[in-house]
Amino acid sequence: MLAIIGGSGLTQLANLDVARREVVRTPYGEPSGPLTLGSLAGRELAFIARHGYGHTIPPHRVNYRANISALRAAGVTHIVSVASVGGIRADLGPGSLVVPHQIIDYTWGRHSTFFDGHDGQVRHIDFTEPYDGDLRMALLAAAARAGEAVVDGAVYAATQGPRLETAAEVNRLERDGADVVGMTGMPEAVLAREAGLAYAAINVVVNHAAGRGESEHGIRMSAIEDMLQEAMTRTRRVLEQLCIGGACP
Ligand code: HPA
Repeated sequence: MLAIIGGSGLTQLANLDVARREVVRTPYGEPSGPLTLGSLAGRELAFIARHGYGHTIPPHRVNYRANISALRAAGVTHIVSVASVGGIRADLGPGSLVVPHQIIDYTWGRHSTFFDGHDGQVRHIDFTEPYDGDLRMALLAAAARAGEAVVDGAVYAATQGPRLETAAEVNRLERDGADVVGMTGMPEAVLAREAGLAYAAINVVVNHAAGRGESEHGIRMSAIEDMLQEAMTRTRRVLEQLCIGGACP
């Protein structure tokens, strides 16, 4: 089953026919909220709001392990993360939809592994390609069918938040090779990999990163809100066209 983890601006999937909500307890504590199970354009789907349904959980306090663990327990095999980001690369202005292909992790102090050594084993996983290649391709194909322009490939910088970056920090992220910046991409992606779930992301660019473009002298939160609403409508259109393992909605 496919799951969508919705970020800011996507606390619910408007066109999801809700069958039931399921409260799942996990060995890692409470997920961000109950799982919503239903169907989108006729296909069974799970949905969870990363920041809680009332948008109350900041990025550094999301229980990423519980969310991934709950989705796996519900029978999820594929996860599409929807997350808003700031655009660093000049061509990734507000309104762009991006399917990233790489990650740089600047977060700290988050529970970032299921392999904590509690089972008496040291385990390492390959993370060379942090996103599932097939699911990325499926998202790009879905965007093409939906007629939505989506940028193929970007390096996602995961910052700690909840504050936005300084202009100098964004300059450093760019020197590091990052194209977009967000606060929730890690450890979510690595936990999905550890759990054996295929994971890919759609990033919605809602602002120029700090010190860039319209954000040269600051970032206006109201501008972010407006952009979110419009871009999430387009994201939903892409999700409606998503085929997984040959199964289309
Ligand atoms: N920085 C970090 N996270 C974000 C941003 C940003 O500029 N915009 C949306 N999420």
